[in-house]
Amino acid sequence: MAEAGDRGRDPEDLKSPQDQARESRPRREGVLPAERLPVILEVLPSDNYALLDSGDGEKLEQYGPYRIVRPEGQAIWRRVLPEAEWRKADAIFTGDTDEEGLGRWRFPKRPLGETWPMRHDGIDYLGRFTSFRHVGVFPEQATHWDHMAGLIEKARRPVKVLNLFGYTGLASLVAASAGAEVTHVDASKRAIGWARENQEVARLTDRPVRWICEDAMKFAEREERRGNRYDIVLFDPPAYGRGPKGEVWQLFEDLPRLADICRAILTPKPLAVVLTAYSIRASFFAIHALMRDTFAGMGGRVESGELVIREKTAGRALSTSLFSRWVAE
Ligand SMILES: C[S@@+](CC[C@H](N)C(=O)[O-])C[C@H]1O[C@@H](n2cnc3c(N)ncnc32)[C@H](O)[C@@H]1O
Repeated sequence: MAEAGDRGRDPEDLKSPQDQARESRPRREGVLPAERLPVILEVLPSDNYALLDSGDGEKLEQYGPYRIVRPEGQAIWRRVLPEAEWRKADAIFTGDTDEEGLGRWRFPKRPLGETWPMRHDGIDYLGRFTSFRHVGVFPEQATHWDHMAGLIEKARRPVKVLNLFGYTGLASLVAASAGAEVTHVDASKRAIGWARENQEVARLTDRPVRWICEDAMKFAEREERRGNRYDIVLFDPPAYGRGPKGEVWQLFEDLPRLADICRAILTPKPLAVVLTAYSIRASFFAIHALMRDTFAGMGGRVESGELVIREKTAGRALSTSLFSRWVAE
């Protein structure tokens, strides 16, 4: 069962989430962390995933056994592969109906099921055709997963990871597989269900993962009040989102507060806090400045830049998101 948190017991819960979210917190005092930027983290083509080609507003990707075509606004260049290669696609996102799930996809060769097998670094999981043109995984996140797994393994002690806005749980499963105790939070009951399914597919059901369907801000605030602490916090918020009780998440308004709470809920010997942001009108300098201010007085280093996917054919880099991470050393 997904936990829903102890609602109703804490007087802070009686405040509307918007009132809580907009209470600003003072600027942190202290020397700013060292900095490193720009850092461009690249995902290269692999057996599991490859960006085969892109151009003319679309991208052609290989997800395990399937070749998939989706819109890509940033692909303002021309395609390299001939049309015949693009026509070999198993699935094309059309988005031309209001239907849920598979209704927005076309399968030119034969009808496909909703999910298919995928694998990352020995962890099995499911790719999935969803109505938002997403496929159950953001492959560009793989560099963050590998970095985090390295920190967990190197720590040689019990490590607690909090994954906010965790979606289908891949970061959570990579952390659990590396030996961490994981708390995964997402507002969508359906996404929590997919994440739990991935845990089974990955054969990691014996690992300590708490799956929590909750508003990320509310959950983080509650953890701060309860004194629950984490060694690594990941947060990958959308530009706009809603919690399960209609709580509104607006990145530009709410990110500074959530970043500050992420700092407040760290253990005395934390390892890292990793922020990814996408679909926003901002430069990575903006989230870099926020993270450096937030981690003032903590030592360590803030590294910021972009997550990009390197194309297989022409080697062009497709930018997917901005990131900024504080690392203790
Ligand atoms: C882009 S996904 C995150 C991707 C994920 N980090 C990964 O790498 O697979 C954004 C997620 O945020 C969740 N979400 C949106 N608003 C939320 C909120 N207020 N609290 C918690 N989760 C929220 C959505 O349900 C969605 O699963």
